[in-house]
Amino acid sequence: MYSLDFRTVEKALAGCRWGHTLFTYDSIGSTMDRARELAQKGAGEGTLVAASVQTEGRGRLNRIWVSPPGSLYLSFLLYPSPEKLPHLTILGGLAVAQAIEGLLPIRADLKWPNDVLVKGKKVAGILVESGVARARNYAVIGIGINVNVELASFPEIADVATSLSDEIREPVDTLKLLQAVVTELEDLYSAFDERAILTSWTNRLITLGRQVKATSGKAIIEGTAIGVSDEGALIIRRNDGTEYSVLAGDVTLR
Ligand code: BTN
Repeated sequence: MYSLDFRTVEKALAGCRWGHTLFTYDSIGSTMDRARELAQKGAGEGTLVAASVQTEGRGRLNRIWVSPPGSLYLSFLLYPSPEKLPHLTILGGLAVAQAIEGLLPIRADLKWPNDVLVKGKKVAGILVESGVARARNYAVIGIGINVNVELASFPEIADVATSLSDEIREPVDTLKLLQAVVTELEDLYSAFDERAILTSWTNRLITLGRQVKATSGKAIIEGTAIGVSDEGALIIRRNDGTEYSVLAGDVTLR
């Protein structure tokens, strides 16, 4: 069975700052839950939980994250300062897009707020959860990347999702990708140049300039996505000319 075994991952991340406290699992419910437990136990910044399979992988808005063998399921435990916390989703998406492009002949786009797309189909997603453990604010950045998986075997998502191996039509070196993601994340997080992060992220956003339908709580907002605020909110201009900022929610491109 495909497995990200501990020694191999440890070796791949030897040059990285994160992942030295490492937990690997052949199968787990969700790496998010394990990372949250580890926060309660006082695990340090950069602790990494990686699994080869998730039986209860979850995405935003409590959606299921289909998690078969061959892909990457990662959760990083961090203790971000208050100014970093709202930007972690952006940072995660950007890190994954940059890692993919650094390694493979693929262009990676971003769709607000957390999707990494290749040719319009989702290849990765970011889920950030936060809380307080031992009187410290923590956050978990969860990253799921469809790496070596044939999406044709998953008809329920094949229309909207893709994998890196489907795109390049050959297997992808999962450990190299993991290493690249960790390096990009660490660099973006430690330098934390808010303006540069937002600019790089906005430049990859395919959402801008498009007709969108955003659902935010009970509100449905339709119009043109015209920009992103400093907090990462999507600014939509409705047909009547009024502008609306969506900080959290779901967006469909029309
Ligand atoms: C989304 O696109 O809605 C976010 C998907 C996040 C999936 C990852 S896989 C690793 C981590 N564990 C989970 O249960 N979810 C995140």
